[in-house]
Amino acid sequence: MNNDKILHIDMGAMDSNVHSDHATLCLGIESSCDETSAAIVDSDRNILSHIIYSQIPEHQKYGGVVPELAARAHILAIEDVVSQALKNANKTINDIDVVAATAGPGLIGGVLVGWMAATGIAQATNKPLIAVNHLEGHALVPRLCATLADGTIAKSGVEFPYLLMLASGGHCQILLVHGVGQYEMIGQTLDDSAGEAYDKVAKMLGLGYPGGPIVDKYAQNGNPRAFDFPRPLCDKPNCDFSFSGIKTAARTFLGRVDAPYSDEFINDFCASFQAAVVDCIVNRLSNALRDSRVRDVAPKTLVVAGGVAKNSAIRAAMEKMAQKNKMVFAAPPMNLCTDNGAMIAWAGLENFAIGNIVDAPIAPRPRWPLTEL
Ligand code: KG4
Ligand code: ZN
Repeated sequence: MNNDKILHIDMGAMDSNVHSDHATLCLGIESSCDETSAAIVDSDRNILSHIIYSQIPEHQKYGGVVPELAARAHILAIEDVVSQALKNANKTINDIDVVAATAGPGLIGGVLVGWMAATGIAQATNKPLIAVNHLEGHALVPRLCATLADGTIAKSGVEFPYLLMLASGGHCQILLVHGVGQYEMIGQTLDDSAGEAYDKVAKMLGLGYPGGPIVDKYAQNGNPRAFDFPRPLCDKPNCDFSFSGIKTAARTFLGRVDAPYSDEFINDFCASFQAAVVDCIVNRLSNALRDSRVRDVAPKTLVVAGGVAKNSAIRAAMEKMAQKNKMVFAAPPMNLCTDNGAMIAWAGLENFAIGNIVDAPIAPRPRWPLTEL
């Protein structure tokens, strides 16, 4: 394994990071897609260490994640990533109280690697094992720490219930989060996820993988009204999404113009595409806030999570929406939006606190909706 690719996440901006012995210490492992990651997090919301080994360079030349290559890369990386996480936290495996790992949903070859590693560690050391749903990792990490309005990162005070926009490479859902393991689906995509739409549009433009951050960057210099992208389902009273129409429109627009595209064209194209995605999210969330299921519960916080939560325009639009509706807006720090071990460790701790411990061998699941916890 190439150690240059290991990312040591520094959470130095956190308000305090001192582990006390009374707090529960969790090792969290994530391996469901193209990041092999491990983190040591405690129940006082301290991130003692956080290692992310990103495989993105390995998949870039194929324009997307190749599951077999990902699984192999996880096997090669997992031991070093876990050892490094322990070393950086200045802990040994004996100091750990709980072991947690993603048990799905995701690319099953990768999930198996992380899950088997966690199972082996837990069995060999006689520690409790937590099977974390990857989506629950995204959904709960805003309760670990959040970016404040002034940009600083602080331990989070987000309380249940909250309204969550969960947008990642594989999912796009609006959920009412009632508690750990308690998710009510308010709306979801009928086809592609938001992240997939970003990745596909970037691919059509020849911009590389993953597309989200690249399109986000170009969009900042473009005219959002240059191309008239559709806003699918925005005339419907429900809270569902559809991105395939936006993707088809992108293909149709590009079919009329010859590559190579000018910088100005790419900027305008990305800005117009992003404006359509943002409008859909705002429109669908507005409906969610009017939905009787949401109104009855009256969540005080509007939360965005998942890889797409890194998007500056989406964060800004949702923050504005929260203000308008007298809600608090919460988003995870940028490096806890995309896949990471800290969110799995935190979800592990939250599940451990309610006694949700694995007591018999379980099989990891490639599909595992949050509504089936
Ligand atoms: O949550 P995640 O790391 O993996 C899954 O669980 O799927 O999300 C990855 C997705 C990719 O589709 C990527 O393009 C997207 O998040 N993404 C973004 C941005 N950064 C990452 N999408 C839009 N804007 C961004 N800045
Ligand atoms: Zn994810």
